[in-house]
Amino acid sequence: MGTAAGNGGGRLRSADWFGEPGRMGAIYRSWVRGYTPEVFDGHPVIGIANSWSELTPCNAHLRRVADAVKQGVWQAGGFPLEFPTTSLGETLMRPTAMLFRNLMSMDVEETLRANPLDGVVLLSGCDKTTPAMLMGAASVDLPTIMVTGGPMLSGKFQGRDLGSGTDIWRFSEEVRAGRMSAEDFRASESCMARSDGHCMTMGTASTMACMAEALGMQLPGAAAIPASDSRRQVVAMAAGQRIVAMVAEDLRPSRILTKAAFENAVRVNAAIGGSTNAAIHLIAIAGRVGVPLALDDFDTLARVVPTLVNLMPSGRYLMEDFAYAGGLPAVMAELGELLHRDALTVSGRTVGDNVADAPCWNREVITTLAEPLQPPGSGLAVLRGNLCPDGAVIKQSAASPHLLKHRGRALVFDRLEDYNLAREAEELLVEETTVLVLRNAGPKGYPGMPEAGNLPLPRKLLERGVTDMVRVSDARMSGTGYGTVVLHVAPEAAVGGPLALVQTGDWVQLDVPARTLRMEVDDQELSRRRQQWQPPAAPPARGYARLYVDHVLQADQGADLDFLVGASGHQPPRHNH
Ligand code: FES
Repeated sequence: MGTAAGNGGGRLRSADWFGEPGRMGAIYRSWVRGYTPEVFDGHPVIGIANSWSELTPCNAHLRRVADAVKQGVWQAGGFPLEFPTTSLGETLMRPTAMLFRNLMSMDVEETLRANPLDGVVLLSGCDKTTPAMLMGAASVDLPTIMVTGGPMLSGKFQGRDLGSGTDIWRFSEEVRAGRMSAEDFRASESCMARSDGHCMTMGTASTMACMAEALGMQLPGAAAIPASDSRRQVVAMAAGQRIVAMVAEDLRPSRILTKAAFENAVRVNAAIGGSTNAAIHLIAIAGRVGVPLALDDFDTLARVVPTLVNLMPSGRYLMEDFAYAGGLPAVMAELGELLHRDALTVSGRTVGDNVADAPCWNREVITTLAEPLQPPGSGLAVLRGNLCPDGAVIKQSAASPHLLKHRGRALVFDRLEDYNLAREAEELLVEETTVLVLRNAGPKGYPGMPEAGNLPLPRKLLERGVTDMVRVSDARMSGTGYGTVVLHVAPEAAVGGPLALVQTGDWVQLDVPARTLRMEVDDQELSRRRQQWQPPAAPPARGYARLYVDHVLQADQGADLDFLVGASGHQPPRHNH
């Protein structure tokens, strides 16, 4: 009992439980009730890790997706067991879902390791659920395949398409500027989220779904299929079939998540106009498998890559259009030799084989290298300077070209709440050339590094028709956000990074072509200010927030907890019987 043609022809891991001949084997089998005896006899046990939750609306349909995965697992001769994981709903969780990404990764990691699983299918959707699951699974290194839940259908309102997030930011600014009625704004709500699925702009959820596919952890073409398209069920069933074969092939994340895979993902992120959050998440995932991925890689690798995908917030279309145009395989095919085509994927084939014949059906949505949406090097730029010695990022494709070289006086806010009050005031001393600075919103500062970096513009400037300003912070930005927004300043202000020393009235210079962000304050003055600097609020007294603040790494290192970096394999620490 329990020897199977799995795990490279060797003994299945689950046989340590279900193949145990004595009393414990009887207990293990008896309590997993409702199955005929042969399912315990050498069939690979496939966990279906489900981040379904009604508190995570983007993942609320994943029970249906899990059913399709189960069918595929049964078809292929496996034994599926579905289980819930922590779930992270971007819109509802406070202070920010990012605070809990590492907690969810711990849940996934420990659940996989502790249970009789031979392989796992990860079901994710909303922003943080995808990286959290990949991080946890990478640290266990069982055969793993991801199925993301798919984007919502395109929003439709008053005869035009609406993009999740992107149009909320736009409309709320229009209301504040008096150009849109509150009634119309309210009416747009249900027109924006009108089906199952995650945000359908190229926000963080769509970006991370594409990253899972670009890394080789999701089947080719799976990222873009809308949640309510029947092909979502088909791809889920195919993943269920495939994971059983992956157990037999002993195809683990450590064979897929190589340096080449991460380099592919970084370049694909540039081509799709992906979220700035991808930098933090990919570095964190790479940390789990020991791949050296540096923040600067996102700049150097992406410089030769043009933006090919014409999706909001960098362009005008939505994920539904992207799926119909051919999805990520069409992009990866177009990138050609810019990718490592020999990188292995969950399909059992290489990237090159996966996308060799991938067609593009709409060149408005997915452009060619020869005629790209934006030229090479318009993706993420990594900045350095005396404001951000360990780096900061800006998404050039979503910024205003005229602000990419800019010099202005800083207007500094220590707390997000202070800015939110000040921005409405007529007497606020602000010009369109002002550089808005928000600090104490980094990993330790807030804590959790909220998506607050794309500060809404001051009301009086909005009323004057100003649509963009340079903004600098140690916070993150929603992947659906846009503007000339410098993010992830490291080290953050709360640990005494130089961002803590800039003062209102200081001149700040942003030069994206030169990759610099500087304050015009001399070293002597900076050291004087440093002596007077006091750390902001005391850390949380207890609980997970305390653990997080004590151990979270800076943004340039992926904001993982320091003791989670690396992998521990799939052996439980100690047999408990
Ligand atoms: Fe869940 Fe945007 S809120 S993906």
